Amino acid sequence: MFTFRGFGSKAAILSTLLISSLYTSTYAQNTTIPSSSYIANAGSNNVSVAVNVPEGADKKDLYFHFEAPAKGRSWVGLGIGDQMTGSLMFIVYRSEGNTGEPTVSPRIASGHVMPRQTTDSNVTVLSSSKVTDDRFYVDFHCMSCREWNNGGGKVDVTSSDASFYFALGPDGTLESDDLNVQINQHPDIPTLFGLDLKSATGTNGVPTIGSTGDQDSDSDGTDDYGPGFTSRGLAAHAFVMGLAFTIIYPLGYLLLRLFERVWLHWAVQSFGVFLTILGVGSGIAVSIKNDISPKLTHPHQIIGLLTFFIILAAWTLGLIGHMMYKKKGVPSPLMKGHRIAGPLSILLGFVNTCIGLAWAGKRIAIAGYTVFDLLVWIVVLSLVFWKKKRNMRKQATNSAAAQNFREGQTYDPPMNPPAYQGVAMQNLDSRPAEYYNVQPNKP
Ligand code: HEM
Ligand SMILES: *[C@@H]1O[C@H](CO)[C@@H](O)[C@H](O)[C@H]1NC(C)=O
Ligand SMILES: *[C@@H]1O[C@H](CO)[C@@H](O)[C@H](O)[C@H]1NC(C)=O
Ligand SMILES: *[C@@H]1O[C@H](CO)[C@@H](O)[C@H](O)[C@H]1NC(C)=O
Repeated sequence: MFTFRGFGSKAAILSTLLISSLYTSTYAQNTTIPSSSYIANAGSNNVSVAVNVPEGADKKDLYFHFEAPAKGRSWVGLGIGDQMTGSLMFIVYRSEGNTGEPTVSPRIASGHVMPRQTTDSNVTVLSSSKVTDDRFYVDFHCMSCREWNNGGGKVDVTSSDASFYFALGPDGTLESDDLNVQINQHPDIPTLFGLDLKSATGTNGVPTIGSTGDQDSDSDGTDDYGPGFTSRGLAAHAFVMGLAFTIIYPLGYLLLRLFERVWLHWAVQSFGVFLTILGVGSGIAVSIKNDISPKLTHPHQIIGLLTFFIILAAWTLGLIGHMMYKKKGVPSPLMKGHRIAGPLSILLGFVNTCIGLAWAGKRIAIAGYTVFDLLVWIVVLSLVFWKKKRNMRKQATNSAAAQNFREGQTYDPPMNPPAYQGVAMQNLDSRPAEYYNVQPNKP
């Protein structure tokens, strides 16, 4: 995966330190600094970002305040843009020897690979920054940050909704002053958010959360940013897929077996197919927009698309097969295909949900999901089994042999199977002999 190439550039660190000490001493704290900010998951575990877009001499630059949970975490990152590839990002980790000062490394990723240091932009960490056991508090000045050659990116400072994202690195210890140090992949997908850069433009200085300008927050922590940092689109994807595969499709099967009403089965499964279309649509949208395997080559995406086509096949075979049966009165051979494609797609859907959860870094959720899905199927199959037994009993009491026995007549095959006549099998033995002569439909 990641290849470890260089030991950062010592020159960059030196110049960074030099500029840093120079800068912080001349830094103006007094005036009102325009800024726009964003808070994810308000509360003690929040991730907060504020930006200032300076006018004047440093009009190629940006100032940031970035705060994120640090407990046990190797690194945190803030990115400019809406995708990983080619965007300018700032990776923050503890310094060598954990001096309490964070290292801020400007980087660019050439794809879904470890981002590497860029020298197109230089970062100065301001003295107000610190790392505690629990949190990273970073104030930094990024020089030449509005455009970067490597990756050809830029940020539109006139935008009132410019895209940014943050990512939280995996658990682990990372203490280094090396701006190109190796980092491990984030376990969760980065969270996208927008900042109003127009309102953040003016006097230069350290931006603060919610001081002036525009403030955007995800205060309930459930929208863009759930416990596992699932984006809104991804949460929608997982929700509709989960609903379709764990509730709707099993329900459609159950209703068919319980009530033997084909239209009911058709209606419920069609709703499931509708949800699946939404799920595939949101899955593809998330893949492209968040740049998560956008060529759809991950096993989850491949199996998902395959499952989707099998579902469409099951739906089509069921519809045509039933229409043919209605027309000709004999079961259509297409129904065999329907009976294979239907259960197969539900099984593949289950497997693919587990793969999707693992891919999204939610291995723990797999066990809970499996138990829930098993319970659903235990209930569904028990009900179907109970119904089948009941039907068999009814059929036994109404079978030609049983009627023959009760009526004392020779068997004459009926044109239509006799309807259920409400006589339970076990009662027959205990009834007096003359009862057998009574016509079963007039007990
Ligand atoms: C049978 C069909 C599918 C099911 C049941 C399914 C279900 C799921 C679930 C449960 C997750 C985990 C989401 C979370 O909680 O964070 C997920 C993630 C995801 N799915 Fe699907 N999915 C299906 C098909 C697809 C398809 C067809 C695509 C796109 C072509 C797709 C793209 C994605 C992406 C990009 C993720 C995020 C992975 C990451 O975090 O890196 N899925 N899916
Ligand atoms: C950033 O620092 C490097 C190394 O000192 C230097 O070569 C480069 O010109 C600097 N870039 C900017 C935009 O200041
Ligand atoms: C700081 O701002 C106040 C008013 O906002 C002003 O009176 C004061 O002179 C300023 N101090 C400096 C050092 O600029
Ligand atoms: C974010 O967390 C920090 C530290 O836990 C806290 O001081 C700050 O008030 C929090 N901010 C918000 C908006 O919740």
